[in-house]
Amino acid sequence: MIPLKPLKEKRMAHCVSVAKLCYDLALAYDVDPMRAYLCGVFHDIAREIPEDEMIPLAKARNIPVGEAERRSPLLLHGALAAAAMAENYGIGDEEMLNAVRRHTVGAPAMTLLDKILFIADKTEPLRVYDGAASLRELAFTDLNRALALAVENEIRYCEEKGYSVHPDTLALRQRRAEPTEIL
Ligand SMILES: [Fe+2]
Ligand SMILES: [Fe+2]
Repeated sequence: MIPLKPLKEKRMAHCVSVAKLCYDLALAYDVDPMRAYLCGVFHDIAREIPEDEMIPLAKARNIPVGEAERRSPLLLHGALAAAAMAENYGIGDEEMLNAVRRHTVGAPAMTLLDKILFIADKTEPLRVYDGAASLRELAFTDLNRALALAVENEIRYCEEKGYSVHPDTLALRQRRAEPTEIL
């Protein structure tokens, strides 16, 4: 069992908001909306685990811990949320677990459900940064373009803050740039 901590009120509101947006996006892209909704509800469930507990919890479950995760253990909160869904709540739906696993840094190849959760997390209505609303709108008509822009935002944000960019995020951008790419 993953020792989860109660979510702060603001975080819970974010999760519900992500879930609702996931539901609507799933309807737009012919994905099972309830599975998408549940991904939203669960995606940040491990977010309040103290950072110093994250690496041992991940290692005990063979979750990969690379240089980026050692520097920023919070990057593990998606993988630990997926582990908690399986261990604590008996959820065995691999597509849902993967979407939750991948919501933090993305992945070189992403399913529709992965993309819906990733974009919903970055653009739910409680997010107030410049451009959030237009990115949210774009997600309903061009999910791949919205994903590409969200990834660029993420990389720019990391660079501005002096954080290193996770290799999976860079791989996602790289793959998006290839002409044969089908995401
Ligand atoms: Fe998250
Ligand atoms: Fe989130």
